[in-house]
Amino acid sequence: MAKKIVIASGKGGVGKSSLTVGLCRALAARGRRVLAVDCDLGLRSLDLLFQAGDALVFDWGDVLRGSCDAQQALVDAGGISLLAAPLQESADFTADGMRAMIGNYEDDFDFILIDAPAGVVGEFSLAAAMADSALVVATADSVCLRSAGRAADCLRAAGVADLRLILNRFHRLAVENSFLTNVDDAIDRVGVQLIGIVPEDPEVTFRLPKGEPLPKKSPAKRAFERIAARIEGESIPLKLKKI
Ligand SMILES: Nc1ncnc2c1ncn2[C@@H]1O[C@H](COP(=O)(O)OP(=O)(O)OP(=O)(O)O)[C@@H](O)[C@H]1O
Ligand SMILES: [Mg+2]
Repeated sequence: MAKKIVIASGKGGVGKSSLTVGLCRALAARGRRVLAVDCDLGLRSLDLLFQAGDALVFDWGDVLRGSCDAQQALVDAGGISLLAAPLQESADFTADGMRAMIGNYEDDFDFILIDAPAGVVGEFSLAAAMADSALVVATADSVCLRSAGRAADCLRAAGVADLRLILNRFHRLAVENSFLTNVDDAIDRVGVQLIGIVPEDPEVTFRLPKGEPLPKKSPAKRAFERIAARIEGESIPLKLKKI
């Protein structure tokens, strides 16, 4: 039975889709069967980040409507399966429908990672409905941390109790110079236990949008590997000094 993890943030543009791709690849590299579900209705991006757009015919809206069967909607994204988001909203999309739809895939995968849209209403609820746990993503600034705390509250209200925080685009010098909030303060503000810190890494900005994998030495790639290991229960200390 797959562990179903929604990647959410509240505020937009903080790195949910990039983290979804990085963590899917890190879990797949550990030999896990991984399904990536794009839940950013109308603004999907995983098909581009995985360079799987050419193979795309169906999306989860087609599965919900019965226009295709569950397996037909999956495309291969380099050893990871991708279920794309529809390009149009529809009243047919409900939380109960999403739960039933994702149930089609639970036995075939070890992990299902759900890329949530920005915001905490509407489609956010559809993403939360599919999940049993969440990674709340924030950058270490006050606006983003407050919206991550709000997203965490909304996830709990939707019944997702197992939450962990990822601080993304982290820059140690910015913290030392007080441009960013320090790690302890960031955790307190969101009220969610930290599972990992992903540094600011230009390889993410320039490689992922082209569908390219991150190079071995990329600090973000290493952070994804450590988070993937922690998701699987390994005890790996946070290495703040290396960020
Ligand atoms: N660790 C990082 N280092 C450098 N750039 C990053 C990092 N994480 C994300 N980015 C960049 O930040 C931008 C936004 O990332 P992304 O699209 O993944 O955010 P998002 O939260 O999914 O956005 P949206 O809310 O619009 O869906 C992209 O240009 C991405 O390359
Ligand atoms: Mg996104």
